[in-house]
Amino acid sequence: MRKILVTGGAGYIGSHTVVELYNAGYTPIIVDNFSNTEERVLQGLAQILGHEVVCHKVDCTDAAALQEVFTKEGKFEGVIHFAAFKAVGESVSEPLKYYHNNVAGLVTLLQVMEANNVSNLVFSSSCTVYGIPEKLPVTEETPTQKANSPYGNTKKIDEEILRDVAASGNYGIKTIALRYFNPIGAHETALIGELPLGVPNNLVPFITQTAAGIRESLTVYGTDYDTPDGSCIRDYVHVVDLAKAHVAAIRRLEQENAAAFEVFNIGTGQGSSVLEVVKAFEKATDTPFPYKTGPRRPGDVPAIYADVTKATEELGFKTSLSLQDSLASSWKWQQQLMK
Ligand code: WQD
Repeated sequence: MRKILVTGGAGYIGSHTVVELYNAGYTPIIVDNFSNTEERVLQGLAQILGHEVVCHKVDCTDAAALQEVFTKEGKFEGVIHFAAFKAVGESVSEPLKYYHNNVAGLVTLLQVMEANNVSNLVFSSSCTVYGIPEKLPVTEETPTQKANSPYGNTKKIDEEILRDVAASGNYGIKTIALRYFNPIGAHETALIGELPLGVPNNLVPFITQTAAGIRESLTVYGTDYDTPDGSCIRDYVHVVDLAKAHVAAIRRLEQENAAAFEVFNIGTGQGSSVLEVVKAFEKATDTPFPYKTGPRRPGDVPAIYADVTKATEELGFKTSLSLQDSLASSWKWQQQLMK
């Protein structure tokens, strides 16, 4: 059994990655503190996979509890670290909560990995480390900038920690950091997806809840940006494609010549504006919904999308699902949630 530890594996991207790991012949073992997800995700996984997935309710900042998982489960081929808080706005009002969970949690995980001679780590990073890029599309060589939120800063700091651990040559840990662009969509079965916990900050869950009548109207945050239609541009990547990128990263780390630290952009390589997403949703689902334009949201980057050459050529990974596929799957998930 090739066991892969998936921290935060009951979360949105984590749960979709658990499915793809299983499909690729690995045995995913989940660790999650359930602070930002619900047990029903495990039921969805069991229905998709046809069996329960082993899950330990553990917080990654708790070294003793994490060690107990390694002791119980025996040898892990590798670890995929998703467990982190990710709400940009919340991180501004509660930075300590973010530095503790997102940075101390990673340090604790690294120490327990070293103590158990586990060497392969895939780390969940974010395009937020690029700040407001000078040039588009962004490559992995685009300089990272002071992040525009404590959340983004934790991702930057985590990458630096992983670089230093690799450069020391003393821990035997090799890392691939995946810089996600904007994950959207849900599994085709609509048995797992992004859980609606509170009022959604992100665009697509807000759209699906507006189309479902839960929200009165979508506000497009600014149409006076220096972009073709004035609204912000992002690179929206289907969560199932993103999940598959993690399997590709685990496979690369298993190769003898794997580098000690590598970074890859994971996106489609296509930019889509907010207004284009609105229109694509209406087209993909034949469900128009009310929206209006409003003022810019502080901290928003006008435009960012990925140069995906490195992942294509070196990771052998390319997305295959379209924006319409993603939006249709998000809508199917929203409708399932309302049953
Ligand atoms: C996308 C675009 C908004 C809501 C954030 C984090 C990133 C990652 C993904 C964690 C922007 C516009 C949104 C709305 C709108 N999080 N929008 N009306 O900000 O690109 O990325 O979430 O990993 O790290 O920074 O995603 O979906 O919030 O916004 O007009 O009601 O949609 O202004 O232009 P974002 P988003």
